[in-house]
Formats: sequence, structure tokens, C-alpha cells
Amino acid sequence: MSATEQLSIRVEPTQQSRLSQVDFNNLKFGQIMSDHMLVAEYNHGQWVDVSIVPYGNLFISPSMSSLHYGQAIFEGIKGYKFADGTVSIFRPDKNWERFNKSAVRLQMPEVPEEIFMDGLKKLLDVDRDWVPSKEGTSLYIRPFMFATEAALGVHPSVSYKFLIITCPVGAYYSKPISLKVETYYTRAAEGGVGFSKNAGNYALSLYPTQLANDEGYDQIMWTDAKEHKYIEEAGTANLIFRIGDSIITPHGDTILHGVTRRTIMELAEKWGYKAEQRKVSVQELIDGIKAGTVSEAFAAGTAATITHIDRIGYEGQDYHLPPVEGREFSNKVLDYLNQLRYGKIEDPFGWNFTI
Ligand code: COI
Repeated sequence: MSATEQLSIRVEPTQQSRLSQVDFNNLKFGQIMSDHMLVAEYNHGQWVDVSIVPYGNLFISPSMSSLHYGQAIFEGIKGYKFADGTVSIFRPDKNWERFNKSAVRLQMPEVPEEIFMDGLKKLLDVDRDWVPSKEGTSLYIRPFMFATEAALGVHPSVSYKFLIITCPVGAYYSKPISLKVETYYTRAAEGGVGFSKNAGNYALSLYPTQLANDEGYDQIMWTDAKEHKYIEEAGTANLIFRIGDSIITPHGDTILHGVTRRTIMELAEKWGYKAEQRKVSVQELIDGIKAGTVSEAFAAGTAATITHIDRIGYEGQDYHLPPVEGREFSNKVLDYLNQLRYGKIEDPFGWNFTI
């Protein structure tokens, strides 16, 4: 018998919707949460309760182990509304897969399809009026799980909470960004947790990012832990470059295997570009910018979507990328994905999960 066989998802609708308070013409990222959230409880090897309830605070113990030892993972997914009102989620199956890889690495239970995927669809059905329809807006979906055992010994928790919360959002970055190449601080080493989407990977980025902000850059460009020679990712998204006619993204287990990054690389290949996942050294990038062979650079992520990079700082020197208007590949892929996600064109890949 599966751990979830007996479970059905109970729905407790809110008595007081906050929808009328939302200004859908002025959406900030991650500020206003939708009316409902999904909450699932795991205890001693069993998923014991799954429900959709009004969004609200949680009751937790001060000795809850995730607060102390960091067993906390999450995902970022987006939902879109087509012109005919259909609600669609973009490639949530890939996020579910990645979520469970993160869970295994952090010694947490995997979340079954009946809870993650079916729960997600049911939650979006309940809160379908929260999915914005204007181009450039979407419903940001945040599945997450954390250890809840009230105990201070260092051991895997016996209990966990899995939740999904959502919020209508506009752009995470509203203009091209500048990156400082980070050559001292480290995000991840081989054998570590760089590929997983765990909360600590973001906590550790805050201090070096602040230092980069103080120097006038929007974000950092992480480099490898051993030599600080090879590019890894930005603080909030993966990185993709166009060098000559190749579309290139850094690869390896020290970086997050992004769903947006994967989607873009699949499209690049399908459209006949040379799509490469390989090591990219900072020197290769800088030499290419100087020689004019690096024509495009962008951050790719669920929140960031495709955010152009206009300036890269390395060892006290700034390197400027060509104007955004002339960036053939990234503008084309952004336009294509926008059309596909809002249901304006056919979806030949089955990436839209409509509900
Ligand atoms: C996402 O792109 O969904 C993320 O989780 C990144 C986060 C920094 C907002």
C-alpha cells in the first residue's frame, strides 16, 4: 500500500477572499499571496494529511529542526492564463522531479505525485481567479518542504510539512542586469548541495550579493569553488551565453539544473543552434566580449524568466555586452515562450499542463 493511498485532498474554502484588494496592473514580485495554500503533513514514514486551506500563519516549535539545521527545500513554478480563461502550468513535472532530487540529497522524504502534482492542479483550480492574464504577469507557485521535528539533536527529522503557496507576480527584474564575477566567496563545491534547491544556497548568497550591490552591480556571477575560474550561475538564476553561433550554458552538479535553462537549451537545439552544456571559463567570456564574439548573455530562471545582462565586472574592470535590441536568440526565445505559455500558439512539446 502506498503511503498516500488513503489520502484525499480536503478543501476548506476561505470565508473572506482578498482578491478585490489586488491591483493586477501593478504587481510586485512575491508580495501578495493568493487566498489558499496546500498543506501536507508527513510523520514517521507516512503522509498523513493533505488539505487546501485559507492562506495563513503556521504554528511552529522554536526547536523545530529546520530552523537550526536547514532541512528546507523549495521550487519555483509559474501558472499562466490564456485569453479564453484556461489556466496552464508550465512544466511542473520537471519541478516535481527536481524537488524530489533535492529531498533525497537533504535526507527528506520524496513527495508523491498525488500530493505534488494533483495538489498543485487542485490548488490552482481553487484559486484560478488569482492567475493574472496580462502579458508579463503570471501566478508564481512556490512548493516547499521543511523539517518540523521539535528536537535539537542533529539527525533527519521524523516529521515534515510540504506546502504550496502562490502569488500573482510581475517581472522579477524589470530591466537588464549587471553582474560582478565573484572570485572569493563560493556557492557550491563538488559533492555538495549546489544542484539542489535548498534554502541555504540562497542564504549564503546574500552577503556577497550585498558586497556586489555596494559596488554598483545587481547580482553576482558565481565561479567554481576550486579555482574561481569557471562560471557557474547568478545568485537568482542560471546563465546562458551566445558565443559565435553557439548557445552555451555552464554545466555540472554544482549548479542548479533549471527548468527554464533546460527549456531554452532544448529550443536552441531544435532551432538548429549549436547548444552546448559545458564548462565556460571567465577568461573565455571576457575574451569573447572583447573580440565581439559574445553577442548575448542572459539569466534564465522561473522568477527571472529571461533577463538580459548588460555589464559584467571582473577584477575591477567593466565589460559591456552589445545592445539588447540586437540580441537575436534571447529575444526570439523570450517571444516564443511568451506566446506558448499564454496559449497563443500551439504547444508541440506538451509543456503546458492545462487545468
Ligand atoms: C525561481 O526562479 O523560481 C527561484 O526560486 C529563484 C528565486 C531567487 C526567486
